[in-house]
Amino acid sequence: MFSLNVYKRIINLVSRSKVSVIGALLVSILLPVLLISIGFDSLGLIENPYFGFLLYVVMAPLLVLGILLLIFGTFFSRGGEEIGTYTVEYLKEQLSRPGRYTRIRRLLYFTVAITLVLVFVVGLASYSSFRYTSSSQFCGQFCHNVMQPQYTAYRNSPHSRVSCVECHLGKDADWAERSRFTGLKQLWAVATDSYPRPILPPITALRPGRKTCEQCHLPEKFHGSRLYTRERFLADEKNTRVRTVILMKVGSGDIEGRVAHGIHWHVSESQQVYYRAADHDREIITEVRQVEKGRKDVVYTRIPGIDGGTAETGKGELRKMDCIDCHNRPTHIFLPADEALDRKLAANTISPYLPYIKRQALEVIKKEYPSREVARVEISRGLQNWYRDNYPDLIDNNPNLFERSVQGVIDAYMDNVFPAMRVTWGTYRNNLGHSKGAGCFRCHGKLREAATGRVISDDCNLCHVILAENEKQPEIIKSLKGVIE
Ligand code: HEC
Ligand code: HEC
Ligand code: HEC
Ligand code: HEC
Ligand code: HEC
Repeated sequence: MFSLNVYKRIINLVSRSKVSVIGALLVSILLPVLLISIGFDSLGLIENPYFGFLLYVVMAPLLVLGILLLIFGTFFSRGGEEIGTYTVEYLKEQLSRPGRYTRIRRLLYFTVAITLVLVFVVGLASYSSFRYTSSSQFCGQFCHNVMQPQYTAYRNSPHSRVSCVECHLGKDADWAERSRFTGLKQLWAVATDSYPRPILPPITALRPGRKTCEQCHLPEKFHGSRLYTRERFLADEKNTRVRTVILMKVGSGDIEGRVAHGIHWHVSESQQVYYRAADHDREIITEVRQVEKGRKDVVYTRIPGIDGGTAETGKGELRKMDCIDCHNRPTHIFLPADEALDRKLAANTISPYLPYIKRQALEVIKKEYPSREVARVEISRGLQNWYRDNYPDLIDNNPNLFERSVQGVIDAYMDNVFPAMRVTWGTYRNNLGHSKGAGCFRCHGKLREAATGRVISDDCNLCHVILAENEKQPEIIKSLKGVIE
């Protein structure tokens, strides 16, 4: 299609400037490598997050740099005595001579063709980079140590199939927001070791909003109440199994003529709950405002003297209550040590037949270890030693049972404790209950209606009915035989 001359001309053009030569080298090496790798990646043949990083965060930008150098060099860096090919005067001169016109036209065609190919490749590379940096794999695994606690908890949660960006950015986040997320700021923090340990909850930036959750959960569709049974194990010789049965008044926003009620009353459409907090973590709530169309706002203020005096009202941002104010740990669920063991015991990963296993396991997992590797060894050693001293035949008679249980205890620790990130038992609080006066009790029992003095109720039957609490043989389970176990 093109005469040899044109190629020569182009090579001439490029080789005249050092900048272009570097650019050309970069492009000719990276282009084929990138094309093939992106092909492999699209087919799902590449699993390693480090390869993705190399590809999209290092190589793709280098290719773009190469292209820029190439163009920059040919346009602006005229070497030798010859005048730059693309200057306006030169073009004018060339175009005014009929013989030369066709040649220059070919050159232009060639340039356009090359540009189109490059635009395609750069587009492909940026799209793949975007897709890659948005993947849970990148978010959770690339900065392995940093995100390990959140990624581990996420993988064990009901949302393990929801990608990180679906919650942290939502579907309709704009590009600016996304680029802030995928941007190099985080990478910089990791590279320079300047991130906080533990990583703080994203109270302001990147906190999922109500809309995010409502892509999948509609509060109007929740059912009335829900029965929960929880298995616990006592720290006695037999690891006695006890059960708690609670009827949670999950409730709903208003639907089909029913008024909003129960726990999800807070997120109904017909009225809204707003609040102000005195601190960044929104632990100390100083004012609550219940807003309903056609009604005067009901204002609640903090009861003086409760939990260390009054916090001033009227300060801080007035926020609309949403899902995350209660469900702050829908997926990064870190359990208390006690509960982590109870779950493994209930699943029989840790065998309840080992005498005192609950008590001994609790003792070893609650110790502080410098690292997860040390913890793994020490937990195992601690249990071995104790059982050898106190039940000398047990390990020899049940080697498999014992080994499996030790592994279960180690797993309970590994799922929740990350010394390198300073994440240990209880580091992240969960607002979906009322442990230590937090959660629901940030408002309930702490604020009262300014006008009438009526306190936001903390009646034990407001949110749930406790049908049995840590009982061996709850009556309620007997009477519901066949319905719940
Ligand atoms: C179901 C929604 C959801 C998904 C999916 C999700 N997160 Fe989160 N994430 C949250 C919420 C809610 C918070 C806490 C917000 C708050 O308290 O302000 C949070 C907090 C965090 C924090 C701050 C530390 C902390 O534990 O509070 C990090 C880091 C984080 N997420 C990373 C990730 C990564 C990495 C993934 C994917 C592997 C992911 N998230 C997936 C909802 C989600
Ligand atoms: C992409 C869809 C999706 C999004 C977005 C999502 N969830 Fe879920 N969520 C699910 C699915 C599916 C389940 C059920 C999983 C199961 O039962 O194993 C679930 C379960 C739950 C449960 C019940 C867990 C349990 O133990 O029974 C809660 C609570 C919940 N989600 C809250 C939230 C909150 C709060 C958000 C917003 C931060 C959110 N979800 C965002 C899909 C989603
Ligand atoms: C006032 C606190 C609060 C708010 C606000 C709240 N929830 Fe809940 N939600 C709860 C509690 C408490 C439960 C039940 C207890 C549990 O899951 O341990 C629950 C249960 C759920 C469940 C499981 C329901 C079931 O029956 O399976 C889903 C899903 C859920 N909430 C989603 C949401 C979404 C989405 C929003 C926001 C639109 C929201 N919640 C707002 C406190 C709240
Ligand atoms: C930001 C403050 C705030 C927080 C946090 C809060 N609530 Fe409430 N809640 C209120 C207010 C205000 C009312 C209305 C009180 C009234 O009318 O007396 C209310 C009412 C309720 C009601 C009665 C609804 C009805 O049927 O009329 C339930 C149930 C409830 N809350 C459950 C919870 C649970 C469970 C949590 C924690 C997971 C929680 N709340 C956290 C402010 C809060
Ligand atoms: C504002 C709502 C609210 C009020 C008022 C309230 N609770 Fe709760 N309570 C909850 C929620 C929500 C949970 C469940 C958290 C979870 O899913 O683990 C809970 C859990 C519990 C549990 C733990 C069950 C278990 O897992 O073993 C006990 C016990 C309990 N409440 C007792 C009480 C008592 C006693 C009172 C009265 C002083 C009370 N609650 C008042 C909301 C409330």
